[in-house]
Amino acid sequence: MSEPILEVRDLTVHFYTYAGIVKAIEDVSFDVYKGETFALVGETGCGKSVTSRAFTQLIESPGRIVKGKVIYHKEDGSTIDLLKLDEEEVRKIRGKEVAYIFQDPHASLDPLYTVGHQIAEAMVVHNTVKDWKEGFRKAVDILRRVLIPDPENRVKNYPHELSGGMKQRVVIGTGISNNPRILIADEPTTALDVTVQAQILELMNKLKREYNTTLILITHNMGVVAEMADRVAVMYAGKIAEIGSVDQIFKNPLHPYTQGLLRAVPNPLAKIERLDAIPGTVPNLIKPPKGCRFHPRCPHATEACRKEVPKLKEIEPGHFVACHLY
Ligand SMILES: Nc1ncnc2c1ncn2[C@@H]1O[C@H](COP(=O)(O)OP(=O)(O)O)[C@@H](O)[C@H]1O
Ligand SMILES: [Mg+2]
Repeated sequence: MSEPILEVRDLTVHFYTYAGIVKAIEDVSFDVYKGETFALVGETGCGKSVTSRAFTQLIESPGRIVKGKVIYHKEDGSTIDLLKLDEEEVRKIRGKEVAYIFQDPHASLDPLYTVGHQIAEAMVVHNTVKDWKEGFRKAVDILRRVLIPDPENRVKNYPHELSGGMKQRVVIGTGISNNPRILIADEPTTALDVTVQAQILELMNKLKREYNTTLILITHNMGVVAEMADRVAVMYAGKIAEIGSVDQIFKNPLHPYTQGLLRAVPNPLAKIERLDAIPGTVPNLIKPPKGCRFHPRCPHATEACRKEVPKLKEIEPGHFVACHLY
């Protein structure tokens, strides 16, 4: 299971704001393997969403992808750099080969259309169905797949007629409607209450197994990571701090930031939205700290950490860390 489906290299996104250039993510590199669940974790604002949205050029003004490659391995074995595609080409990939589920189901659904219409539309635009009629028929199947009871009638509902959990199921249904090869779930359960969260995660696991989809799961919840992921990338202030298997990250965290994260969550179900266990705050990304961006908060910081940006180094097979201690 170590055949890459995505190779992200030196991905760098800046936002050109009146206050200055926000260096949101810098030189982000990692591989995602076919069929795995890859978790991207870190505190709010560390760059998880920007990273995943950049894969299919979903960065809005004033943001710009400044640098990098996102090599996508197609089904036929050929590769393309998703960042080199023009808008029309990337639209064929987005929603079809690489689909997204966002945090807020309310924002993802249009209040003016029935859920059946919205699922059908996702398939119509990608020619997965031959016409709207087939789209509506398939929408019923999809609602059934995402375990919505009474799908024949639910398909005619408007979003406001559904609960938050049901809405997120519809969004997931839209996400999987074209059988994407990569499904990116960006904090898919954050807006939901805890029991519904667990149901949605279970649903995503089931769908992933059924369709052999590669799942990129974005979360700030280490419990979700432990439960769902095969491998993890830990981000801090727009940079990758550490990458490894779930076992490597939880049993042998190398980066002082990862260690802090895990100390902060002795209870793996706790959230890491705010990291009280690590003194200091997430830096301003207009003027990020020189050298290692974590150095002002790091108990082990040395002169090198203040000056040089640490490179990602492989410490044991598959376990990478960007830290001068190693
Ligand atoms: N439209 C924007 N304008 C300016 N800065 C932005 C914009 N969108 C995101 N950023 C900055 O990019 C950084 C990463 O954001 P994001 O990827 O949303 O974080 P996460 O998903 O990890 O919570 C943040 O510091 C944020 O301030
Ligand atoms: Mg986010």
